[in-house]
Amino acid sequence: MAEEIITIERHILERQRTYPEATGVFSSLLYDIALVAKIIARETTRAGLVEILGLAGKMNIQGEQQMKLDVFANETMVRVNSYTGRLAAMASEEVPGIIHIPEGYPTGPYVLVFDPLDGSSNIDVNVSIGTIFGVYRRRSAEGPATMEDFMQPGRDLVAAGYVIYGSSTMMVYSTGNGVHGFTLDPGVGEFLLSHPDIHIPQTPKYYSVNQGNERRWSDGVLRFTHWLQGMDEAEPRESLSGRYIGSLVADFHRNLLDGGIYYYPSSPKRPEGKLRLLYEAAPLAFIAENAGGAASNGWQRILDVVPESLHQRVPLYIGNRELVEKAEAFIARYDG
Ligand code: AHG
Ligand code: MN
Ligand code: MN
Repeated sequence: MAEEIITIERHILERQRTYPEATGVFSSLLYDIALVAKIIARETTRAGLVEILGLAGKMNIQGEQQMKLDVFANETMVRVNSYTGRLAAMASEEVPGIIHIPEGYPTGPYVLVFDPLDGSSNIDVNVSIGTIFGVYRRRSAEGPATMEDFMQPGRDLVAAGYVIYGSSTMMVYSTGNGVHGFTLDPGVGEFLLSHPDIHIPQTPKYYSVNQGNERRWSDGVLRFTHWLQGMDEAEPRESLSGRYIGSLVADFHRNLLDGGIYYYPSSPKRPEGKLRLLYEAAPLAFIAENAGGAASNGWQRILDVVPESLHQRVPLYIGNRELVEKAEAFIARYDG
């Protein structure tokens, strides 16, 4: 057990001190995201109570119904980050275009991309959900942000991370200098360092894929899966256990801590896959690589994929490097 108690604030500030040129804007931005995480965590833990307890307290002044949790999460991120002067703009999975800073408020040097609530089909059944985020330096010189500011490959991320609302709430982030995990102490409302310097274990335990889509898989994906299951006669191996939550954050988090691979391949129905490059694949790829793992679209490193539109999708293979490379090898061999 660690002797020191390190809050996320202290951790961010101490990292900042190692960069003498840092202005503090970036550190404050990370801390703002931690605040958003706490607000979303508070709402997710009482999600099922809203209809029972929320009627009076939660009906807004227009008498509208309680917001859906993913809309609430999106609005919280936008409300916390619009007026701080730290961002030039934001882009969210829930919003079609760029989210600009309201007129009259200062802009800053970064842009923020996020999936406010990942795994939303799991909300109503009390299964883990998450938030994913990435931070880029703006590219345009000044004034309102432009599309150019968002069309950056994941390798240019300044920071990325996710929050998992599970049996406890955790925030995991990286600025390219190790991956660090913090657990929320809900009593005091602080994220405390619980998982310093996360490395994906050498020996993987799990594979995570929606097996219900199997009939639409390519030969490469099918054979790769059989290999993971220890069914490849040419190359037998110990079978991995299957685990699939259907919340990318939760599936990724488990595999990051225990070792494994998550994949959402392309299919004839979804040639470009399901997951979003900017809000899901790139930030988690940044975390995976910084933890010693890898992420690929099946033939190319995710962090090298240059986005062409905000909501672009990509096939995703993410987890232990050895497994991701194996997926690429099967795809090259059988689908090439
Ligand atoms: P979101 O809730 O943000 O739309 O993301 C859902 C994603 C991801 O979290 C998950 O891994 C995947 O969709 C599950 O899709 P299937 O139900 O098709 O397996
Ligand atoms: Mn998602
Ligand atoms: Mn989402």
